[in-house]
Amino acid sequence: MSSLHPETRVVHLPKPKLNGSTPISVPIYQTSGFVFDDPAVFADGMGRPDGAFVYGRLSNPTVRSLEEAVAGLEGGAGAVATGSGMGAISTVLLGLLRSGDHVIAQTALYGGTATVFKDLEARYGISVTYVPEADPGAVRDAVRPETKLLYLETIANPMTQVADIPAMSAAAREAGLVTVVDNTFASPLLCRPIELGADVVVHSTTKYLSGHTDVLGGIAVAATDELYRRIWTHSLELGATADPFAAWLTLRGIQTLPLRMERHCSNTRLLATRLAEHPAVAAVHWPGLPSHPSYDVAAKLMPEFGGVFSFDLKGGRPAGEAFMKGVRLALLAPSLGGVETLILHPATTSHRGLDAAGLAAAGIGEGTVRVAVGIEHPEDLWADFQQALEGGAGA
Ligand SMILES: Cc1ncc(COP(=O)(O)O)c(C=O)c1O
Repeated sequence: MSSLHPETRVVHLPKPKLNGSTPISVPIYQTSGFVFDDPAVFADGMGRPDGAFVYGRLSNPTVRSLEEAVAGLEGGAGAVATGSGMGAISTVLLGLLRSGDHVIAQTALYGGTATVFKDLEARYGISVTYVPEADPGAVRDAVRPETKLLYLETIANPMTQVADIPAMSAAAREAGLVTVVDNTFASPLLCRPIELGADVVVHSTTKYLSGHTDVLGGIAVAATDELYRRIWTHSLELGATADPFAAWLTLRGIQTLPLRMERHCSNTRLLATRLAEHPAVAAVHWPGLPSHPSYDVAAKLMPEFGGVFSFDLKGGRPAGEAFMKGVRLALLAPSLGGVETLILHPATTSHRGLDAAGLAAAGIGEGTVRVAVGIEHPEDLWADFQQALEGGAGA
């Protein structure tokens, strides 16, 4: 299977074997536990992720299919699926860190992750040094004897800075750190961080992997069997377990990920390019535009540049608010990676946990609008954006 393209892998998903045949599509094993004839097999299954299925918090055949599918797409040794993206991030961080440890993290982070780092510092004395996402020298300078982990996002939320994963993870490796990369915005179709030097990849599968805005989920993929077992063992304690039905919806979504991702990216290119030329627009933040500070890094790491961008209007916050009220097709809503185009105001929603200095450090303006582009016809989306800009936001 390892030589197959992702487009083929997602069609031929790993499935549980039955006695003499295999189901064509992955079934939902909606059971919390399993019955044994042999107490030794039962006991063995309790202690490892690859023994017999025992109990849903340890594993489940539907969830295992999802874990194997995403581990395969990311090129990892194993994966642990969770009930949400934050479940995966917390499981990895709490599983790999101890009180007194030090972490190096990129400055521009998803708001929920930034809050976890603040909390780790306050509750467990796990200190964090923030560095730019493409500055390996800053990683080397920040390393201390107690530094354990480097944390990056392939494409940061919402200003779309792209981490220089090969350079940053190489600097981390020199110091013996584990590199964790949140690959939610890129998906394994645009970037496979393990191939670039990462040790653990996390996803909010709520987004592109499931793709239909109907399920919450997360996953942590480990590059090595040793890391996989450590994360799995800790996941049993934290209990952020994936539900079989959620795993099944995610698997169903994954089968069309390559087709959806192509359309997300081409629609985004059209909107970002046209908005950048619109007289009411002050700046468009998308790594596919040569004006974006991450353009060169993004072009080196990814075949396409993702389906999320942000923009600022010349009229500042009032113009941003007028735009958000003015759109008819795009929906004012949280999340991203689904088939429909969603917009939001990061400063008061996804990043409300940041103070003014934190917002400024992440490059988020008072009036910045984030757009998660869906798979609608691009000209319908452009017509909607144009009418919203002309109806007041562009004034
Ligand atoms: C980059 C990124 N990582 C993690 C998360 C958290 O995922 P979830 O909402 O599934 O817990 C999000 C949610 O928006 C995100 O954008």
